[in-house]
Amino acid sequence: MAAHNILLLPGDGIGPEVMAEVTKLLSWLNKQGIARFETETDLVGGASYDAHKVSITDAAMARATAADAVLFGAVGGPKWDAVPYAVRPEAGLLRLRKDLGLFANLRPAICYPALADASSLKRELVEGLDIVIVRELTGGVYFGEPKEIVTLENGEKRAVDTQVYTTHEIERIARVAFELARKRGNKVTSSEKRNVMRSGVLWNQVVTALHKAEYPDVQLEHQLADALGMQLVRYPKQFDVIVTDNLFGDMLSDVAAMLTGSLGMLPSASLGAEDPATGRRKALYEPVHGSAPDIAGQGVANPIAMIGSVAMALRYSFGLGEAADLVEKAIAAVLDQGLRTRDIAVAGQNTVGTGEMGDAVLRELQHLAG
Ligand code: IPM
Ligand code: MG
Repeated sequence: MAAHNILLLPGDGIGPEVMAEVTKLLSWLNKQGIARFETETDLVGGASYDAHKVSITDAAMARATAADAVLFGAVGGPKWDAVPYAVRPEAGLLRLRKDLGLFANLRPAICYPALADASSLKRELVEGLDIVIVRELTGGVYFGEPKEIVTLENGEKRAVDTQVYTTHEIERIARVAFELARKRGNKVTSSEKRNVMRSGVLWNQVVTALHKAEYPDVQLEHQLADALGMQLVRYPKQFDVIVTDNLFGDMLSDVAAMLTGSLGMLPSASLGAEDPATGRRKALYEPVHGSAPDIAGQGVANPIAMIGSVAMALRYSFGLGEAADLVEKAIAAVLDQGLRTRDIAVAGQNTVGTGEMGDAVLRELQHLAG
């Protein structure tokens, strides 16, 4: 069995705590003979800044480029609020996305029946929810130039961020959404602000044309991004796959996350283009939650989003769909058994810590594997 190389980047805050559960899971998969994973670990974010004065080193970037997949924890925290903008913790993550060409960010929002009461919406609106936000990740206002603050002649300052998209960037992310929809509910909702943004006009045209030319069998609808935000909290089960740009995707995926009961539940995959020679793609997997500095170091963080991110890696990077199903089933089972970390507990429920939750998933995996 060929070895798969994984780079672990735990990062800051609760990142290292949830990553510890990944290490246990990878060892279990190795022991079961399901795969042969070899891991390296490096610094990113504030942790890297403290050691090297940059949010990711060239050496860590080289390891990330060479790895078969990167597993990423979280970055940032008040400790680094005052560091120079170019080396702030988030810059490490943005460099990884950009330099590895990870243009397709898949953010599933699944509401486990056991957690429907932890959602801020009524149970009947979210129970059984299963949608995916496909967020464009290497373009738009995150990376567009100019991006600057300049001082004008009158002494006033002027800040500019640039929203920019090309046909090719829109087409390749839309293609990911259509392909994914074909394997799911066969419906894509594309979202932009064509009523005020030229990039939205182009987005809409390119998605419409691609649909007509290559995916007429998939149901396509368009919703303005503000309306889509409203629909997400009004009746989220109307959606299957949502495709949108970098900034709208950032916001809408936080909203979608909350529908499921907790930000602590959501995994994500960031994928590059398939290499035609090898059929492989660069990939980074990370929980949608951030570094949660308020609870860092207490052992109470929910590791499920991180563990779910490993499941996505098994599926999208390693062709181990069955093992991914197993991990996802184990997560659902421990929730059914009533195990709750603090973030997904309702009043009166007993809670467990990060390590206990991770162990419970492993126990369930062992049980499912027989
Ligand atoms: C996310 C985060 C990042 C983003 C930050 C940490 C730069 O919010 O992955 O959603 O804005 O993309
Ligand atoms: Mg975000």
